[in-house]
Amino acid sequence: MEFLEFKHDQAAADLVARVYDTPPLAYVHSYGCQQNVNDGERIKGVLTDIGYGLCDKPDDADLILFNTCAVREHAEQRVFGNVGALKALKEKKPQLLIGLCGCMANQKHIVDKLRKSYPYVDLVFGVDGIDTLPQLLCEKLAGRRRRVLMEPAQRPVIVENIPIRRESEFRAWLPIMYGCDNFCTYCIVPYVRGREKSRKSADILAEFRGLVAAGYKEITLLGQNVNSYGKGLEEQIDFADLLRLLCTVPGDYHIRFMTSHPKDASHKLIDTIAAQPKLCKHIHLPVQSGSDRILAQMNRHYTAAQYLELVEYARKTIPGVTFSSDIIVGFPNETEEDFAATLRLIEQVGYMQLFTFIYSKREGTKAALLPDEVTRAEKTDRMRRLLETQDAIAMKLVAAQVGRTVRVLVEGHGREEGTLTGRLDNNLTVEFAGAPELIGAYAHVRLTGARATVLLGEVCGQPQPQ
Ligand code: SAH
Ligand code: SF4
Ligand code: F3S
Repeated sequence: MEFLEFKHDQAAADLVARVYDTPPLAYVHSYGCQQNVNDGERIKGVLTDIGYGLCDKPDDADLILFNTCAVREHAEQRVFGNVGALKALKEKKPQLLIGLCGCMANQKHIVDKLRKSYPYVDLVFGVDGIDTLPQLLCEKLAGRRRRVLMEPAQRPVIVENIPIRRESEFRAWLPIMYGCDNFCTYCIVPYVRGREKSRKSADILAEFRGLVAAGYKEITLLGQNVNSYGKGLEEQIDFADLLRLLCTVPGDYHIRFMTSHPKDASHKLIDTIAAQPKLCKHIHLPVQSGSDRILAQMNRHYTAAQYLELVEYARKTIPGVTFSSDIIVGFPNETEEDFAATLRLIEQVGYMQLFTFIYSKREGTKAALLPDEVTRAEKTDRMRRLLETQDAIAMKLVAAQVGRTVRVLVEGHGREEGTLTGRLDNNLTVEFAGAPELIGAYAHVRLTGARATVLLGEVCGQPQPQ
């Protein structure tokens, strides 16, 4: 593994200034998970570093970049739909540049398809190519290449200090590792994001300090499996050690993290969450299925009983802890019995939130070789039953919160005029009346009721606007 520093590319900035009379505008749209959103923020940072402005409508743009996700077929179809829709715009405005990057661009069959069927796409690069974007753009702008289509490749490097344009002024994403080594059999991520790479703790700490100093209140540490942080580093450090290190930074903030793979979630991690007030008492712990047979076929390396033991230990150790999870419905050959085990498990755990997905076959993964024996109708019926069961669970849990007074981070406007939304430490959302100046600050809220799974409340005490 090599660690590099990002360098400002003055030649690229000069070329951009020569080609355009006024600073060109870029429209960057990110799909998929928080890691991709954070990559999108760095892509915007790199573009502004060479003289681009940013815009939020494709029609205004000189460069349109789709930062894509490949995790489910639906995600890919949406991107192709959106790229297809740009053909007319490009005909009207031939100097417009269109690019595609992110996880889809790290698949050979996608690059081949773009090469053959989407001649008006000018630029394609993968997840490890963000720091090379200035050079790629130069090749295109200088007319050295008609199209710049990078072949999928993963680089064993981490580039630090890539410029960044964050979307929020009070919530920040902070990647601590990239890639994934787990190869869950249904999942494309290890193929498109490559092998796990951990950032040095000193680099993470430096970025973290910068965020706290800039007034960020919520910092979410990101990795496909944060619990295996530290693998491959020269320093001896694991994820719990990293959390303890970050919590030594003084300031008024809190830390979230995702995703924790249950197979690597240690008692040490849970003890750390219990001991550190700056760590939110909420764990996103995707279980995927409640059936041991399916979990084995998914290559998840835990059983339902082991998972429940972990949840039990966390409940005992961290008062008030809440859990959320991801569930896949209709994994190839999932039987009614397997699905019933999933329903049982979600009842036993009592998740506050559940992210539910119908299995989507991904070419190149192991599960894609299994005959898919679950019919479409069965899949949608199971999904409906899962959601119904979860709604009832969550409504009960949310109602049990009523009466508490809690500190929330005010995130934005509520659905009704004059209301705001805030997030509790345990990741629930509350709506309450309040002035927009509170957005981005902490407020104390008394929980007075609930509407389905959203809490209702009123500000109490004297919250401090920023
Ligand atoms: N690394 C994280 C998140 C991975 S992607 C983790 O392990 O939890 C987010 C979620 O998408 C996964 O948890 C899984 O539930 C879902 N997912 C991944 N591949 C999928 C597929 N082929 N079909 C349906 N859902 C999928
Ligand atoms: Fe995919 Fe599994 Fe890695 Fe998560 S841990 S990204 S589900 S392979
Ligand atoms: Fe999608 Fe890539 Fe994230 S495939 S879920 S954007 S890692």
